[in-house]
Amino acid sequence: QINEAAAVVFSVPSYACQRRTTLQNHNTVLTEALSLLAENAELNEEDGRAIAFRRSEAVLKALPKAVTNLADLRGLPCLGEHSLKIIKASRKGCDVLKDGVSSEVETTRQSDRYKALKVLTGIFGVGAKTADRWIKMGISTLHQLQASGETLNQAQQAGLEHYEDLNQPVAKAEADAIGDVVQKVVLSVLPGALITLIGGFRRGKPTGHDVDFLITHPEEGREVGLLPKVASLLKSQGFLLYQKTTRNSYLESDDGPARLSSNMDRFERCFSIFKLEMNPGTTRSGTPRSSSRTESQSDDHSPQTPGGVHENGLDSRRRSWRAVRVDLVVSPISQFAFALLGWTGSKLFEREMRRWAGHEKAMSLSSHALYDTKQRRYLRAASEEEIFAHLGLEYIPPSERNA
Ligand code: GTP
Ligand code: MN
Ligand code: MN
Repeated sequence: QINEAAAVVFSVPSYACQRRTTLQNHNTVLTEALSLLAENAELNEEDGRAIAFRRSEAVLKALPKAVTNLADLRGLPCLGEHSLKIIKASRKGCDVLKDGVSSEVETTRQSDRYKALKVLTGIFGVGAKTADRWIKMGISTLHQLQASGETLNQAQQAGLEHYEDLNQPVAKAEADAIGDVVQKVVLSVLPGALITLIGGFRRGKPTGHDVDFLITHPEEGREVGLLPKVASLLKSQGFLLYQKTTRNSYLESDDGPARLSSNMDRFERCFSIFKLEMNPGTTRSGTPRSSSRTESQSDDHSPQTPGGVHENGLDSRRRSWRAVRVDLVVSPISQFAFALLGWTGSKLFEREMRRWAGHEKAMSLSSHALYDTKQRRYLRAASEEEIFAHLGLEYIPPSERNA
């Protein structure tokens, strides 16, 4: 064991919610390899495998420096046999090739099935199940999908129509611009409402795949029925290319927190595709398209490759706007801390926190509430800090929840 002395001893607790994970990642080659395998497992609905890869990815993300020595890995939690194999292969690659990756990762990345699943689930409204069904029918490109005559629901139609835009990262400045619009409209409907940017942007990410907002009002109950009004106002002002407003239908998947029958149905959310004007001052070629939804009728767009979709038959570079996915969530003030915590992410951080609650504390955590199974009662919280305290966890701020 020549390397013994040189080995760094990393002390990493096993639940992601016990660790501080910033955006600074010292092991990107390794985490990208594991992330790809996790994604592939997710796309194939192999949940157990996906979570195992996500957990090992997260452990490496939390390390304060690069792994340079296999002995560095000793004592680290969550690294299963398969993940260790990938890490070893990737590491060798790094040393020898500069950008080397394990052959399993490369094979996966280049496989027809992975590529097709990526393209098809890149359509808003298309999940792994639908993509799998289409692939089995011989559909693996947008072109083939359009030629197939498959019936698409409204979300999928909008997703296809705005494919290129929705697969471009959203910048923080764009999120802020959308935030201004949302804020104005919400306040016009409900003065005194509070609008918070959540999701990845709250964790300090510079870009995201969408923009998430949580809305509440300091007076319990005033928020009820807010979202349909906000959505229809945004729509009438020409800001929405698509929207679906629902009462909360989210079923917490993995660790099954208690069903909150009476609280559940008060949650509202809106999935939307927002039309963001990019140069408000400089409208080109006359008037910008306004509120009318001419684009939804146009059948002349001709997607070829993922990058080749022309929205409205116009080159995206000549438009003065872009489409952005926006999620709006409304919570009553009594559940605000839970909603804030639950919607800030990361997804793994959330999942780990629920697992911690269930396995270590006999409690059940959701975006609505925290239930103590032994005391048989709900534990109130007015802030995220209080929820961490109830769970016996050190407080981790949003910027360190990037597991
Ligand atoms: P990007 O958008 O890719 O930048 O990352 P993100 O972390 O913002 O991901 P996303 O917008 O998908 O989700 C934001 C947070 O909301 C994550 O922590 C998710 O776990 C959570 N979330 C997403 N969908 C739901 C849902 O239906 N219900 C609840 N309770 N939480 C959700
Ligand atoms: Mn998001
Ligand atoms: Mn979202």
